[in-house]
Amino acid sequence: MGLRFANRVQSMKASAVREMLKLTAAGDVISFAGGLPPNECLPVDETQAVVARVLAEHGPRALQYSTTEGCASLRAAIAGRMRRRLGVEITAEDVLVTTGSQQALDLTGKVFLDEGDVVFCESPTYLAAISAFRPFGAGFADVPSDEHGMVVTELERMLAACERRALVYVVPDFQNPSGRTWSLERRLELLQVAERYEVPVVEDAPYRELRFEGEELPALFSLDRGGRVVFTSTFSKILSPGLRVGWIAAPLPLLEKYVLAKQAADLHTPTLTQLIVSAFVEAHDLDAHIAGIRRVCRERRDAMLRALAQHLPRQVGVTRPAGGLFLWLELPQPLDAREWLRLCLARGVAFVAGDAFHPNGGGEHAARICFSGTPEPRIEEGVKRMAAALRELPGAGSLSWPTRAAA
Ligand SMILES: Cc1ncc(COP(=O)(O)O)c(C=O)c1O
Repeated sequence: MGLRFANRVQSMKASAVREMLKLTAAGDVISFAGGLPPNECLPVDETQAVVARVLAEHGPRALQYSTTEGCASLRAAIAGRMRRRLGVEITAEDVLVTTGSQQALDLTGKVFLDEGDVVFCESPTYLAAISAFRPFGAGFADVPSDEHGMVVTELERMLAACERRALVYVVPDFQNPSGRTWSLERRLELLQVAERYEVPVVEDAPYRELRFEGEELPALFSLDRGGRVVFTSTFSKILSPGLRVGWIAAPLPLLEKYVLAKQAADLHTPTLTQLIVSAFVEAHDLDAHIAGIRRVCRERRDAMLRALAQHLPRQVGVTRPAGGLFLWLELPQPLDAREWLRLCLARGVAFVAGDAFHPNGGGEHAARICFSGTPEPRIEEGVKRMAAALRELPGAGSLSWPTRAAA
């Protein structure tokens, strides 16, 4: 082909998750790959009624262009919810509706990243944030992270050594992919360091409302006194990912830049889906709806933990997330999770190998498991298939298997 593409196309790679979704859409594959909320919790009947109401009430306006910032009723509903749930004093003016929170990441690239800039992120980090930032020519500094979150002393050391520091990107609650939640101390330390080095912090919080147990911790956005936190969240995990409605809340000088970037990107998020979300939250008790999602996800997390304990060797490390959709497995070195995945796919079970979440290499022995999208009996069947595949993996002979495990 004689066509010349922009240099940035070189850095665009097919997402391991999106490719896996294609593979697992066909046949009898049990997929722990995509981060899907439970199908059973998608409110089909309620949405049908809401769509009819929106069209009856708004008429052609529901199908017309609307403002870049978002529909007034939805912005007000989001601001009201953030005031109540996060304790932040914001109004509709502080909110920009986005086409999923994935768009917030793309706009972050447009607003903050020049060629050669560096994004500081957790290790591992959200795969599609890597894909969103990389085309802007950004590099990544993946900061060592433990069960309390990013190791902020390491972040500080890495920021000090870098001249092109552009932003810090974090998922402090039930992180994708590790499932970990940051301690309060780490949140406070991060804000101090961000202040000292004058970097913006992007707080990506799609799972915040999906806590199964333990105390809720304050969002970075609510702790920030320096006006440097951009908060993004989404209705994807608490209502429907297919509607593609997310949002950004940020101090006005930052938000204005995001609005300009969004104007050029897609003019505005679809009017109809915004009105559907705003009519849904007006007509229904969203808290009760989320409680239902939380209950199902928690049951599935427990089923997954039980099955993993029962069928996998105890040398396989397993995290126990207090919320969200994911847990993280670590095979003992030198076993390779990419090889394991290949064997798993042949047996009809899928996950995402950990290397996809490391922008600079690493994570080859790890795996991200999404427990929320699979009903309970299928969870155990999927884990049995994973165990059977693991037995075939070169080097797995020395693992000690639970006595009751299926061969
Ligand atoms: C950490 C994180 N950020 C952003 C997104 C994108 O979500 P949305 O469906 O709102 O675009 C996801 C989706 O899985 C996610 O896990």
